[in-house]
Amino acid sequence: MEKLVIEGGKPLKGTIRIQGAKNAALPILAASVLAEGTTILENVPDLLDIRVMLDILRAIGCKAEHKNETVHIDTTGLNSFHIPADLMTQMRSSIFLMGPLVARLGSVRVYQPGGCAIGERKINLHLDGLRALGAEIEESCGMIHCRAEKLTGTDIYLDFPSVGATENIMMAAAAADGMTIIHNAAREPEIQDLQNFLCAMGARIYGAGTGTITIEGITRFTPCTYRIIPDRIVTGTLMVAAAATRGNVTLERVIPSHVTSLIHVLRRSGVQITVSGDIMNVQCHTRPKRVERVITSPFPAFPTDLQSLLMVLLSLADGLSIIKETVFEGRFKHVDELSRMGADILIDLNTAFIRGVPRLYGATVEATDLRAGAALVVAGLAAHGTTVVEQIQHIDRGYDRLEQLLGSLGAVITRTSLDSAVRPETEPEPERASNPRTGTARANG
Ligand code: EPZ
Repeated sequence: MEKLVIEGGKPLKGTIRIQGAKNAALPILAASVLAEGTTILENVPDLLDIRVMLDILRAIGCKAEHKNETVHIDTTGLNSFHIPADLMTQMRSSIFLMGPLVARLGSVRVYQPGGCAIGERKINLHLDGLRALGAEIEESCGMIHCRAEKLTGTDIYLDFPSVGATENIMMAAAAADGMTIIHNAAREPEIQDLQNFLCAMGARIYGAGTGTITIEGITRFTPCTYRIIPDRIVTGTLMVAAAATRGNVTLERVIPSHVTSLIHVLRRSGVQITVSGDIMNVQCHTRPKRVERVITSPFPAFPTDLQSLLMVLLSLADGLSIIKETVFEGRFKHVDELSRMGADILIDLNTAFIRGVPRLYGATVEATDLRAGAALVVAGLAAHGTTVVEQIQHIDRGYDRLEQLLGSLGAVITRTSLDSAVRPETEPEPERASNPRTGTARANG
């Protein structure tokens, strides 16, 4: 299996362009099946999850090609409503095919989706929304069969502003007969991008970005050319990496309003952030300050996807910081690995108490999910000594050649599949008390 080997302690310096947003591209790729013909999507990053989605589209009869961050999808040959199990289980976002396929074909057969081990990740809100629009859904042995002679617009109230459920319902309601209003809808920027794409195909939708989205169904969608927004989580990842390595990084093609909550938290921690249009500069020349409390919550609050990244920075801060995770119940899997690098973190239910330490130390650590893996890479960049991150296929799901991106900013980071040479030679460890909170912190070697 491939690993990333990182020589830490190098401040990141330079300018980088942000990739297109994975979490905008995935639902938009699914929505493309609503229109017969060829849709062109620009600024689509080359990621594992994107490749799986393109394989799913090919499996149901579409033609799909991805070159130079541009995807061409020809849905003329769409001939199946059955998503293969082996593709479904590789990626949770395969569930996005339900709305558009039941709208276009009147039927869709999927399996319980796979995804990151960050929580139960139920899909009840997706299914309830489709039922409300008139779909009949049968579930047996992990398979879900959704049928609808006709979809009819209605009022839908989401118990939780689920991003995926909002998107699935939008895509189905766009082709329903009549008006649909989604109440307590998710407000993430990716929802707005989906609305803009659907409207570019002729849909009549407004309100995305607010908690109430109104959709007037249409019968015929027109293929279009559309550019995906920049990835706000990759933006945040690089902002934290610049701060944690006490570097000076300029990010291009940023939408600052998509990372407002992170900007505020980083500024409270003493990071210097300047914004001019779609360009952002992030600098940090001193030890970060503690941040009393950060609570993850749906947009526009602090995003759960950046929780693990922020935890790395606060692990190095001067004092005690608290992060409360309210979106996913299993999203602290990076904590044990950070503790092995010398972090001092106590977990109590969904709250992390982070007592900053002067430095982290290189170790061999394991990525357990996409954003936990990214956090371990950032920790390795900031740590003293060598860090080896294993199971990096999780990271490749959301970051397009992360090692090249960071390497262009001066990081010493290589991808290898060698088993021998990667045991890092960390510098001799000063005697460190074992961390009573999370076991004994130990470096590799
Ligand atoms: C999207 O996942 C993102 N993925 C996630 O990013 C992101 O963490 C999440 O939104 C929250 O912002 C994509 O867009 C592909 P949710 P999604 O439905 O749609 C519960 C990453 O790292 N829930 O808003 O699955 C669920 O269990 C990934 O890029 C139900 O109970 O998120 C969770 O606790 C990770 N029933 C909460 O809602 C449902 O039917 C948030 O889930 C659906 C969700």
